[in-house]
Amino acid sequence: MSLINEYTNHEIKTFDKDHVWHHLTPGSAADNGLPVFVKGQGLDLWDIDGNQYLDASAGGVWVTNTGYGRKEIVDAISEQLLDLNFFASAMGNKPAAIFASHLIDKMPGMNRVFYSSSGSEANEKAFKMVRQISHKKYAGKKSKILYRERDYHGTTIAALSATGQSQRRDQFGPFVPDFVEFPHCFEYRSQFEETVDYGVKAAQLMEDVILQEGPDTVGAVIIEPITAGGGIITPPEGYLKAVEQICKKHNVLLILDEVVCGLGRTGKWFGYQHYDIQPDIVTMAKGVASGYAAISCTVTTEAVYKDLQESDNTDKLGYFRDISTYGGCLAGPAAAIANMNIIEKENLIENSAKMGDLLLVGLQELKTKYPIIGDVRGKGLLVGIELVTDSTSKQPVDETLAISIFAKCKQAGLLIGRTNRSFAEFNNILNMSPALCVTEAQIQQILTTLDQAFSDLTVDLTQA
Ligand SMILES: Cc1ncc(COP(=O)(O)O)c(C=O)c1O
Repeated sequence: MSLINEYTNHEIKTFDKDHVWHHLTPGSAADNGLPVFVKGQGLDLWDIDGNQYLDASAGGVWVTNTGYGRKEIVDAISEQLLDLNFFASAMGNKPAAIFASHLIDKMPGMNRVFYSSSGSEANEKAFKMVRQISHKKYAGKKSKILYRERDYHGTTIAALSATGQSQRRDQFGPFVPDFVEFPHCFEYRSQFEETVDYGVKAAQLMEDVILQEGPDTVGAVIIEPITAGGGIITPPEGYLKAVEQICKKHNVLLILDEVVCGLGRTGKWFGYQHYDIQPDIVTMAKGVASGYAAISCTVTTEAVYKDLQESDNTDKLGYFRDISTYGGCLAGPAAAIANMNIIEKENLIENSAKMGDLLLVGLQELKTKYPIIGDVRGKGLLVGIELVTDSTSKQPVDETLAISIFAKCKQAGLLIGRTNRSFAEFNNILNMSPALCVTEAQIQQILTTLDQAFSDLTVDLTQA
């Protein structure tokens, strides 16, 4: 009997209630009517009470890109760990070298991979690179990092300092200096009356902030190519291209946070690859190893690497004097190699694009049926719907209605995601992001369950 299976279900629930501090949730799983999971296979999950769910949230937070129960990944990890489990990434090892080369093959223009173990940490590394370049090349002047309203970049204090979501950050201040917010780019809630050329106009709002702050003080801009937790916001035509050009014009590095979008989630290897742009730094985590091991990467161009590594290494500015202990755990790159191999072998990038289109079409149909669905948006299998009181005022519905749809889906055995206390008033967005191996039948199941949930909600609202 395994060390885990020797406990009864009752004991596990009691331990959970008495000792686990759940993320983002006050109270125990049981207090919140939330499941304790015991098994996963493909997109299916089972809880400790024997209930089965279809997971359309990739592990709740866009992680399990290749799905649950992938023996190939588990075998790759266990073989690697028996050979060698760890040595600090100051020295070399086989899987880290191989995965870096495979990753760079998918990212033309990029060349160096710095390993760490979470998305927040990958972004911290990017910020530290920018700060060190500022000291080395600009006498400490180009230290400001601009981030966008509604984007999320992680849970550590610097990553939160770069996060444009009030309810996720306000209680944790004071923040790190020299992080400056610029306005969102969200066509559905455009800042302008006239929506023609919205992408270019929204990028101009970013340039206005660079000019206000002084271009000689701004070192980098960080953006999620498609905003995930902030409400599944796809950039309009021309936006990211204009952002890239503005960054070039002012000698500002462009950091793209691909922690959610990366590794096929949006129907290309990386979200930014839909938009014909060349970043300076790309960060990624989650789908890199689909939750089988903790790994994140900060990937840079050779130019960024050379700015930091070229000179005499006795000088503290001469090289990037940084580390992540678990960036040296070989389970991460071993899992990432096997994960990438599955994505290629099973054509999961193409499947993500195709199934995402099916999901979008089905949701558009639901929008014509239920006026509470104000907007449907997304790319690949990163898809969201925004709930409003009516389509003219676009007034967000109360959060309780989004929670009600989430709960009805869960009751019917479907797990979806939702904006969970990101900004007051705008916790009205539901998201559907199944693993990339989702089938047409499963897409249909997601749509049918949502249809029923909205139909039941309509009845609840008329009876209220
Ligand atoms: C876009 C984005 N960046 C960074 C992070 C932080 O990643 P982690 O939780 O692995 O630190 C997240 C997490 O949800 C994210 O959505």
